[in-house]
Amino acid sequence: MKDTPTIQSSAGKLGVLLPGFGAVATTFVAGVENIRRGNATPVGSVSQMQTIRLGKRTDGRTPKIKDFVDLTPLDNLVFGAWDPIADDGYESALNAGVLDKHEHIEPIRDFLASIEPMSAAFDTKYVKKLNGPNVKQAANKKELAEQLRQDIRDFREKNGCDRLVMVWCGSTEIFLRPGAEHASIEAFEKAMAENSDQIAPSMLYAYAAIMEGVPYANGAPNLSADVPALEQLAKERGVPIAGKDFKTGQTLMKTILAPGFKTRMLGLNGWFSTNILGNRDGEVLDDPESFKTKEESKLGALEYILQPKMYPELYKDLYHKVRINYYPPRGDNKEGWDNIDIFGWLGYPMQIKVDFLCRDSILAAPIVLDLALFLDLAGRCGMSGIQEWLSFYFKAPQTQPGLYPEHDIFIQHWKLKNTLRWMMGEDQITHLGLDYDD
Ligand SMILES: NC(=O)c1ccc[n+]([C@@H]2O[C@H](COP(=O)([O-])OP(=O)(O)OC[C@H]3O[C@@H](n4cnc5c(N)ncnc54)[C@H](O)[C@@H]3O)[C@@H](O)[C@H]2O)c1
Repeated sequence: MKDTPTIQSSAGKLGVLLPGFGAVATTFVAGVENIRRGNATPVGSVSQMQTIRLGKRTDGRTPKIKDFVDLTPLDNLVFGAWDPIADDGYESALNAGVLDKHEHIEPIRDFLASIEPMSAAFDTKYVKKLNGPNVKQAANKKELAEQLRQDIRDFREKNGCDRLVMVWCGSTEIFLRPGAEHASIEAFEKAMAENSDQIAPSMLYAYAAIMEGVPYANGAPNLSADVPALEQLAKERGVPIAGKDFKTGQTLMKTILAPGFKTRMLGLNGWFSTNILGNRDGEVLDDPESFKTKEESKLGALEYILQPKMYPELYKDLYHKVRINYYPPRGDNKEGWDNIDIFGWLGYPMQIKVDFLCRDSILAAPIVLDLALFLDLAGRCGMSGIQEWLSFYFKAPQTQPGLYPEHDIFIQHWKLKNTLRWMMGEDQITHLGLDYDD
């Protein structure tokens, strides 16, 4: 096993930079502020609420993760954002309609209003349903990236930050495939200078972050940093990166249920998933090209969990379909239906129906927090490139080239905690049990 790393101290301010200041980002920022003021509890945040078992079962050592590893305290977080829509945090949070105005927005109005989004590197070609005036102008995409780098440096200085992290909370862009433009840093920089269509705005933020030594997480299914050029750049510059697409509603349920069917060797004929949602994200996903990006991200999980090549009798004929329907009356309160056709002993069919009345951004906000804190920790441990131990948080986990992504939420969770144990020089937990107390 690799040597336990030396962890730099978490002292000082950590700036959390958010490209995209819509529903998820404002729910996250407002949530942290309410928690800091003692008005709320960080429900859903593993970093803040979960414990971790250390040593033997008989040792009785189960500290909270935040007391075990040196994470930046919430009081030391400061926030910055970019968005083509110029609404400040107060206006944007109200518009998102996720949090209760009187309970969680008005009491922190001044704080929210003080966060005004910087002008965005944005192009409506990549997010067809949106437009906004708060947009950077430049001769080419390389210059846009340089402007973002300058924003990062200015933010660091103005806010006296010791460290920064960036979490993409922007819209889902149109579907792009990795190509020659993304194959190496040289090709990528040339493509930026030549204004290639293959360079989407989310890639410019990722590039700018990595160049500035800022860890980067991608909460949308966009390619963004999931291309060889930026993976290589992250390695060379010693910057941790992670993605893609926050694992929140339906895919969260899928990656909880599917491993259960598989451990019991139950078969699956079909899994039909459909959603209605009415927030801005839903509107963006109403465009077929943005939906295609989301669809690819959502479809992968079952294939990898069930391994149909290894279990053809159980999963070879699985028909998997995912639909997202924009339905404004629901706002951020999505409804996700799953109809699951399973079969058991001698092939007898059964059905399971899941109707998840969820709140998308309520599920996503603690993920933003955990990713910001854990990526900062990874950076302080000298870890660079793709952080697979954070797969737990993503629908389409980014992996080292040549490896398949791990989607099973229980394996992902185990991996996350074992990585924390490794960082702190604690024994790995195997659950072997041969010595009774393992
Ligand atoms: N809410 C969830 O549970 C969830 C789960 C997984 C992934 N996501 C993804 O997270 C992202 C944010 O979701 P949301 O519900 O907050 O959406 P939202 O529409 O409320 O917010 C996205 C914001 O990004 C801005 N934006 C778009 N392009 C930008 C750019 N180039 N630079 C800066 N800002 C840009 C938009 O103007 C918008 O304000 C989406 O891509 C969504 O698919 C959300």
